[in-house]
Amino acid sequence: MLIDGKNTAAQIKAEIAAEVATMVANGQKRPHLAAILVGHDGGSETYVAHKVKACEECGFTSTLLRYEDDVTEAELLQAIDRLNADNDVDGFIVQLPLPRHISEQRIIEAIDYRKDVDGFHPINVGRMSIGLPCFLSATPAGIMTLLERYDIPTRGARCVVLGRSNIVGKPVATLMMQKATPGNATVTVCHSATPDIKDICREADIIIAALGSPGFVTADLIKPGAVIIDVGTTRVPDATRKSGFRLRGDVDFDNVEPLCSWITPVPGGVGPMTIVSLMKNTLLAARHDIYPA
Ligand code: GUN
Repeated sequence: MLIDGKNTAAQIKAEIAAEVATMVANGQKRPHLAAILVGHDGGSETYVAHKVKACEECGFTSTLLRYEDDVTEAELLQAIDRLNADNDVDGFIVQLPLPRHISEQRIIEAIDYRKDVDGFHPINVGRMSIGLPCFLSATPAGIMTLLERYDIPTRGARCVVLGRSNIVGKPVATLMMQKATPGNATVTVCHSATPDIKDICREADIIIAALGSPGFVTADLIKPGAVIIDVGTTRVPDATRKSGFRLRGDVDFDNVEPLCSWITPVPGGVGPMTIVSLMKNTLLAARHDIYPA
């Protein structure tokens, strides 16, 4: 059956909007999310546009700061300092990837961890890994929310994570193994140096595919009844579309779907949940729920 991320995200946005309406009625300020976007990468432009739109739907204030590809690291660090000091801004993100002449790690570490609603700062990553309250990065948090809202059992399940990125693979593996619900799974992380990925997948009760390799997860890798979470969003050429491309996941959906118990589509699965998790973190930041003011 289909895990409908779009519909779940719409529900959660409505819940957030109701909370914001109550906050504003009580005289509190609207939550405010700022985003820094560097250059004109098509994917990043789309993601940031979706984030700004989601802010409107949730009743948040949003600010978009744009820089050209030739911005210096020093200029970006200054922009981050200003956002760190701006009392109206509850949280902000720097959309990745950044141009090669800028150190992503230096940028991430310059963000005040109390405003790091992407959950990329080492303080938030470290707190997540030992199970302390923190900003969870948005894609892993969105996946966990889907598993929770669809009541998908994870305790004792064999979970295979494909990919070990800092943004998805590593944190989702950490959350799936955590002593929590959802969580408590037995997790295997596969990556480019794993020789027997296919055999490992065939043992999996849950596969979380975050490789960026369209159609990698084929029907012959699926244990009947498995749960499949597809994080891939690769743009592939499609002449029938106005844009000239469509998004393809890491899973060969048409052939895998009949074999599994639950599966997320692309688009409309994990993607909308990523955005809504960022909104949730912004609300938590505005309420100082995780870190005191
Ligand atoms: N690039 C891809 N995913 C993300 C994300 O969740 N946050 C940011 N800032 N950049 C990204």
